[in-house]
Amino acid sequence: MKAIRDNARQKMKKFCRVCKVCDGRVCAGEIPGMGGLGTGASFKNNVSALASLHLNMRLVHDITEPKTAITLLGYELALPVLAAPIGGVAVNMDLGVSEEDYNLSVVGGCLDAGIVGCTGDGVPPVIHEAGLAALTLHHGCGIPFIKPWEGAELDEKLEKARDTGCKAIGMDIDAAGLLTLRRRGRPVAPRTSQQLADIIGKVHAWGIAFILKGLMSPRDASLAVEAGADAVVVSNHGGRALDHTPGTATVLPEVVAAVGGRIPVLADGGVRDGGDILKMLALGADCVLIGRPVSVAAVGGGREGVARYFETLGDQLRQAMVMTGTPDVRDVSPSIIHGLNG
Ligand SMILES: Cc1cc2nc3c(=O)[nH]c(=O)nc-3n(C[C@H](O)[C@H](O)[C@H](O)COP(=O)(O)O)c2cc1C
Repeated sequence: MKAIRDNARQKMKKFCRVCKVCDGRVCAGEIPGMGGLGTGASFKNNVSALASLHLNMRLVHDITEPKTAITLLGYELALPVLAAPIGGVAVNMDLGVSEEDYNLSVVGGCLDAGIVGCTGDGVPPVIHEAGLAALTLHHGCGIPFIKPWEGAELDEKLEKARDTGCKAIGMDIDAAGLLTLRRRGRPVAPRTSQQLADIIGKVHAWGIAFILKGLMSPRDASLAVEAGADAVVVSNHGGRALDHTPGTATVLPEVVAAVGGRIPVLADGGVRDGGDILKMLALGADCVLIGRPVSVAAVGGGREGVARYFETLGDQLRQAMVMTGTPDVRDVSPSIIHGLNG
């Protein structure tokens, strides 16, 4: 991983320092780039919310080979982890890597590691086209995310996503705040419950599940369930959509309570190692997504770099499970977090 990170540091130097801990401090406000919006508080809060949680060690048990596999919306995953959708790293940052190759590295590397990758969306069109092409090449083994476009663009892109053969399509509704897209004549917008239900009904009619990403409140999560979503992602877009939000780990338990087990709850933002994955699961997430570190692995090591990164995370997760006495990722006790009961 060191060689991969060193290589990425060289290629990404104008946009990402590949810091020892990717926590949003050095890159605050750097958009385009890998930073968080404005002061970078939302990105930094994601990392600090996880860092403020501490794991209890429990060694008096017989768990040596914890189970890490889950099934999520028809996808079999060796780890409760997905590569988050990241659009435009290559095309917007001039890294000497094409958007096509970047997406092939992410989608292919995830499959090599026994999980699946998500693909992103944006302007210019090569962003969604490269993601969808990588998914099509891998027989739909991944999840395309489409932005909440206004007008015909949404339907056109949902149909293109369908044609990859995927089992689920996501929408990052928190992209509704990206005024840059509106200024470029490509408006995105929030959606009412009824509009969401209509979109979800259309996707369901194709036999495809629908994931709503970018929710930070119990209210929105409940409305998503009522509109028919098959999963939600607690996310603040890695701190890129609104400055000054809490960290995702802070709001996750309230969202999980509001959803009440009706659909899976996913979460992302600041997840950096196996311990962080386990913390999110202990707070009630069924699966996590990881963003920036996957970009670093893909730029620095291509498909192999991505696979290696997730293998490392799997080792860390298994170790953390043994050390906390956790037998199965599908049933992680909140009591493994110091100060929480369960
Ligand atoms: C450069 C960049 C581009 C992104 N593009 C997308 C996108 O196209 N669609 C999307 O749903 N989220 C996008 N995201 C947000 C990620 O999916 C994810 O929510 C976030 O990166 C998670 O935080 P982390 O990077 O701290 O792990 C992007 C994030 C970054 C940093």
